[in-house]
Amino acid sequence: MTNIAILASGNGTNAEHIARTFEGSREINVAIAVSNRADAGVIGRMNRLGISVEHVPDNVWRENPGEIVGLLRRHKVDLIVLAGFLKYIDPVIIDAFPKRILNIHPSLLPAYGGPGMYGARVHRAVVEAGEKLSGVTVHFVSAEVDGGDIILQKSVELVPGETAKSLEAKIHPLEYEIYPEAIALSLIHISEPTRRRGI
Ligand code: GAR
Repeated sequence: MTNIAILASGNGTNAEHIARTFEGSREINVAIAVSNRADAGVIGRMNRLGISVEHVPDNVWRENPGEIVGLLRRHKVDLIVLAGFLKYIDPVIIDAFPKRILNIHPSLLPAYGGPGMYGARVHRAVVEAGEKLSGVTVHFVSAEVDGGDIILQKSVELVPGETAKSLEAKIHPLEYEIYPEAIALSLIHISEPTRRRGI
């Protein structure tokens, strides 16, 4: 069984979709959700699904990432899944979970990624640039924001008159489709012996 932790800062529709997809799975267990915001929509969504949520405030992510590693280890987490999580992931956490942290980004990376590019801002930039194509990327998290190896991408066409809102409405269902698939694919990087050692 692979234990995953879902990290989310906002509404949490991806988090909910992932949790529902793997409900009853014999391979993947959502062990915990973590949010940096006490008022995030994701908290209610996870509570309703019976998944425990920890609130870890902003200063801890910045000043004491080792505490977060400890929390994840206590919950025997094998894989960390960022689902609309807007804090920088400190190298201390990346080093503790090599190739075990995934992120979803609502564009075809490397386009429209990097610091400050998230959610609606990405869609606005894509529409304003007159792009014909956008999409979703799931990638491993590295020290460079949105810069890690890509696991899966899926594209969507923009139509004349497309707005940031309408593009977002097209992108979300694509996210729900590819994130569980990318999570399942990433499991090949987590070998049994390594997991047993708890590394
Ligand atoms: C998603 O569109 C996700 O791709 C994006 O935040 C949204 C969260 O939605 N993430 C980023 O922009 C990361 N740079 P949700 O809270 O409804 O899952």
